[in-house]
Amino acid sequence: MARNRWDREDAPEKHIGLLQLVQMLSLLVIFVAGIIIGIATSPHINRYFDSLAQLTFTNNIASPKISDDNCTILRTCEKVDCLTMEGFVHPDNLTHSMTDDEVLWRASMLPYKKGYPFDRVPKVAFMFLTRGPLPLLPLWERFFRGHAGYFSIYVHTPEDYELNVSTDSPFYGRKIPSKDVEWGSISMVDAEKRLLANALLDFSNERFVLLSESCIPIYKFSIVYKYLIRSKHSFVESYDAPTRYARGRYNQKMLPDIHLYQWRKGSQWFEIQRDLAVYLVSDTKYHTIFKKYCRPACYPDEHYIPTYLNMFHGSLNANRTVTWVDWSIVAPHPPTYDGIDVTEGFIQSIRNKGNQCSYNSEMTSVCYLFARKFAPSALVPLLNLTSTVMGF
Ligand SMILES: *[C@@H]1O[C@H](CO)[C@@H](O)[C@H](O)[C@H]1NC(C)=O
Ligand SMILES: *[C@@H]1O[C@H](CO)[C@@H](O)[C@H](O)[C@H]1NC(C)=O
Ligand SMILES: *[C@@H]1O[C@H](CO)[C@@H](O)[C@H](O)[C@H]1NC(C)=O
Ligand SMILES: *[C@@H]1O[C@H](CO)[C@@H](O)[C@H](O)[C@H]1NC(C)=O
Ligand SMILES: *[C@@H]1O[C@H](CO)[C@@H](O)[C@H](O)[C@H]1NC(C)=O
Repeated sequence: MARNRWDREDAPEKHIGLLQLVQMLSLLVIFVAGIIIGIATSPHINRYFDSLAQLTFTNNIASPKISDDNCTILRTCEKVDCLTMEGFVHPDNLTHSMTDDEVLWRASMLPYKKGYPFDRVPKVAFMFLTRGPLPLLPLWERFFRGHAGYFSIYVHTPEDYELNVSTDSPFYGRKIPSKDVEWGSISMVDAEKRLLANALLDFSNERFVLLSESCIPIYKFSIVYKYLIRSKHSFVESYDAPTRYARGRYNQKMLPDIHLYQWRKGSQWFEIQRDLAVYLVSDTKYHTIFKKYCRPACYPDEHYIPTYLNMFHGSLNANRTVTWVDWSIVAPHPPTYDGIDVTEGFIQSIRNKGNQCSYNSEMTSVCYLFARKFAPSALVPLLNLTSTVMGF
């Protein structure tokens, strides 16, 4: 009591100052002691929090009985298009209800990011533009046998034609949604673009060959594959000639978009790399001009692609075709070979005609990989020659 009173009433100013100093010092001591204790115990605290975190985490994985059921439902999804990576990059069912406009738009997309987030084995897309049946089917089946994973097949038929092949054939389920084609009209180009667009949906397809039901392979698969995959150029025949069948089909009304000096002619049976396929399905402008101004005796399938490539992507084209056809006889259509025409010597002569052509800037005697036109009667003699002449 007395001390208190003394403190409060009697102590002079400097005694109060001294007292404050002592208080501050003791606070400082407590503070420093606190820091020291804190540093000394912190590993224990960290460990404590670590174990707490682990506990919470394990609890999180251990508990989800309910969402387990949800996962099962998602995994067994039967729908074709479930936004899976697999369904996006390798669509294996060609059935769809997209219109031409929709499928061309979807196919026109180029990945901007470099590289692929999956193991990409480049494939060759074999696109068959047919009037219906495939009379040389057994020959092609033998050609493809043992090479699954390196090719894709697409078949375009008349709209209502049902492609009837056995379930173990590589052609099974490979018909794309098709429309009727009027030979020589723009509908032929539309069918070619439809094939390209459907084939582009598979991101592994790197090269795209257009074939007909009367085409045959004249080399074994591995040679055809390497030849196309390693080529720096596409194989679209493209030439200029001062004749009525070439320049004579140019229409002045295509000016100012297409000039006569840009006009090209070439066989319909092309082979192109992926970039060019994307550019082609993306073009509307030139397609519209050809639809309007290239009518018989102008045939869009012989001019549209060669002219378009010459105007914009000429440096990527070899300007020659890899599909041999006999134009030695002057006629509106090339000859068709029957069974009796098919001999070892004949097929050998197509494989090596004695002339050379340019491949990746070097000369080679392998100029053609495919040939046309072969009648159904050629099938049996061709099958007899595959192992001795064609190597498959
Ligand atoms: C998915 O799980 C939730 C609870 O997480 C539940 O309410 C729901 O019914 C489940 N959905 C289905 C389709 O089972
Ligand atoms: C399909 O082909 C098989 C034999 O290859 C034949 O038995 C069947 O009748 C054919 N079906 C149709 C619809 O043509
Ligand atoms: C592709 O999908 C359609 C529709 O879902 C189905 O009817 C068809 O049988 C499938 N085709 C193949 C080859 O799986
Ligand atoms: C093909 O023709 C184009 C012109 O359209 C040219 O630029 C290109 O070099 C030619 N290709 C080859 C391999 O010579
Ligand atoms: C198959 O080819 C051989 C010669 O290579 C020939 O003797 C035979 O008659 C041919 N058979 C058929 C069915 O064409």
